[in-house]
Amino acid sequence: MRTFLRVALCIVLAGQGAASWAQDDALLMRGKYLMEGVVACANCHIARDDKGQPLFDKGLSGGMFFDDAAFKAYAPNITPDPETGIGKWTDAQLAKAIREGIRPDGTLIGPPMPVPFYRNLSDSDLAAIIAYLKAQPAIKHQVKKSSYNIPLPPNYGPPVAHVDLPATTNTLKYGEYLANIGHCMDCHTPRNNKGMLVTARLGAGGQVIKWPAGGEAVTPNLTPDESGLKSWSDAQIARAIRDGVDKSGTHLKRIMAFDWYQNIDDSDMKALITYLRSLKPEPFAYAK
Ligand code: HEC
Ligand code: HEC
Repeated sequence: MRTFLRVALCIVLAGQGAASWAQDDALLMRGKYLMEGVVACANCHIARDDKGQPLFDKGLSGGMFFDDAAFKAYAPNITPDPETGIGKWTDAQLAKAIREGIRPDGTLIGPPMPVPFYRNLSDSDLAAIIAYLKAQPAIKHQVKKSSYNIPLPPNYGPPVAHVDLPATTNTLKYGEYLANIGHCMDCHTPRNNKGMLVTARLGAGGQVIKWPAGGEAVTPNLTPDESGLKSWSDAQIARAIRDGVDKSGTHLKRIMAFDWYQNIDDSDMKALITYLRSLKPEPFAYAK
């Protein structure tokens, strides 16, 4: 029915609207694939019950509380509700918030929003994510303001004018892109005592993550070291990412975003694993 109507309307508007509708559809489909897959903004922004289980019907209406020595942060409502969400934000304002961490009023979005990784989002994927956000049902839900007892920097770097999507044929580069927009290394890299990522040991794990209502876990080592994924097969790595079951058959805690990563398709999974296998082997150590 939907297709029929669309075809009929396309004929009526032939030459004008048809092409741009097809483009809008493609953008939304890409947005859905990313948001309900590797990008997984919902892992932080979805409303949850007091056991930490996602409340899918409440969508991205936020509320999750992050209790850290440096901050008490709440994930805001990012549904299109005009009063309590992002309903009044323009596409350009949303783009600046997501890729640069700067709100329309000029204030900086603080951690744990992984803005440094989102600086890598391509223009086209950013547009797809924004199209998806705007297509979600508006949900009224006032979320508390975060407070930081560390000074936030003025910005996360210079404005990001333009980012190309890497070619999918370049498996390694594309895998790195996916790992960035999936912010894998934000959790799987150790942090120093100031809370900064130790990028020299990218992917080595050892970060203690306290997850609201989801308990606590130390992130495992994703590098190709003996203490990491060296002896894991591709299928075992894919199962951990998608199904949340590790090599020994143990279920992973829900901190790991497998509720979303389960939708990562086979070619993207292959790219991600190629990237993980390219990391410098680093031994695992507790960061704190
Ligand atoms: C690791 C958790 C986490 C992830 C993942 C995450 N966010 Fe956030 N986000 C936050 C927190 C916490 C804040 C509030 C920070 C503050 O109060 O300064 C925030 C703030 C925001 C804001 C500002 C909203 C406002 O009203 O001030 C937007 C927009 C946003 N996030 C969008 C996104 C999008 C889109 C994604 C995925 C591409 C995403 N976030 C992924 C935790 C996260
Ligand atoms: C919000 C933090 C977070 C993000 C983001 C995240 N992970 Fe994880 N991941 C974890 C935690 C915590 C565990 C261990 C859970 C446990 O011990 O039950 C884990 C476990 C894993 C494992 C199992 C390894 C083992 O030795 O058991 C793999 C593989 C993995 N993650 C890969 C990824 C990839 C690839 C991405 C990005 C697409 C990613 N993770 C993003 C927190 C995260």
